[in-house]
Amino acid sequence: MPFYLGRKAIRKVPGTVIKAAPIPKPEITEGFGTRERVGQLCAEAGFESVLLLTDETLFSLGLHEKVAASLEANGIRYTIFHAIHSEPTTDILEAGREAAMDCEADCIVALGGGSVMDSGKIIAASAKHDLLPLSHYLHKFAIAEGGTLPMINIPSTAGTGAECTVGAVVMNSRGVKCSTVVIGLDVAHVILDSELIVNAPREVTVWCAVDALSHGLEGLLADVGSSEEDIFRSRECVRLILENLPVLLEDPHNVEARQATLRAANYGGNAINTQLAGYVHAFAHAIGGLYHIPHGKAIAWCLVPVVAAQESWCYEELSALAVHCGEAEEGDSPEEAADRMIAVLRELLEKCGLEKRCELLKKEDYGRLIGRIDADSVNYSPSRTFSDSEVRMLLDQIRRGY
Ligand SMILES: [Fe+2]
Repeated sequence: MPFYLGRKAIRKVPGTVIKAAPIPKPEITEGFGTRERVGQLCAEAGFESVLLLTDETLFSLGLHEKVAASLEANGIRYTIFHAIHSEPTTDILEAGREAAMDCEADCIVALGGGSVMDSGKIIAASAKHDLLPLSHYLHKFAIAEGGTLPMINIPSTAGTGAECTVGAVVMNSRGVKCSTVVIGLDVAHVILDSELIVNAPREVTVWCAVDALSHGLEGLLADVGSSEEDIFRSRECVRLILENLPVLLEDPHNVEARQATLRAANYGGNAINTQLAGYVHAFAHAIGGLYHIPHGKAIAWCLVPVVAAQESWCYEELSALAVHCGEAEEGDSPEEAADRMIAVLRELLEKCGLEKRCELLKKEDYGRLIGRIDADSVNYSPSRTFSDSEVRMLLDQIRRGY
């Protein structure tokens, strides 16, 4: 098989694998202050002892207090573990696992961003199967036979969708970031509480929202044979961000708009589970990793050039999205509607006032970046495969600005 066709065939594999993997279908509770319902939810589910996971920042701000009070009011025993930070090491995960076993937790409540929830997934799996070493859950696919401890996830950002995704990014014992898919993850409930994000700084709000939007958009461009329901959720993810991020730029404390971005991020998480990400993420991971750029910021640089480069293979998906978002009419030509969709993305990023050019990108790094982009892209099932020269041209475009 020629090399190019071989690469194309490999990219069909992830889309096939996700069809077979079980994904959590949590109940969702939404609304300002709704984390106060966690105790009642635990009581209704019959949980008796909870490990409440959070990070130092949220703990020092006291954002866990309403959760703790709610557990107490409903007679649920709980232990707080707040040592999680942005890059959780195996030592921290081991300590979390021990804390869960010491308190005989029958539920993990994770309150925080992606790293808290991702740590929670590993702890929920490893604490249930205490005869297996933690390293068992740090392989690319971590099979938790018989499931994990049930989780109740309360995201404190509206971006990653990690509250429902089966993937987790943590550090392995060599201190290297690794991503793992927890097969059998049990997320019983997700609480989308806008009180946790209503004071988020502008930059964080924008990066998280753009990341969420990219999950829905890349899901729609993936060649995975999505269901109608998943297509609808991914389109809604994009529409909700297009509609509500501009509102938040003007009125950051708008609770309805904050709540809508949480819903969008959750739909984006569904897209990652059922449709996977794509080349925007492959570029952003490579650039972000090499130059230590926050994920959402790297996504914002890559989004328009990388989506535009796929346009001619994805007219149908982009034009249908434009119609769904009210940016095009049913009768418009697919090419016009797809053009409009890309223009709308560009306008949104311009409104956010982000730097357009990624000046950090250096030509001498292109070789390494191309290798990393190619390696990362095999985790997805994009509609087409870029050649090395196309990747090089796209890096030039990202450097020059969208
Ligand atoms: Fe992302």
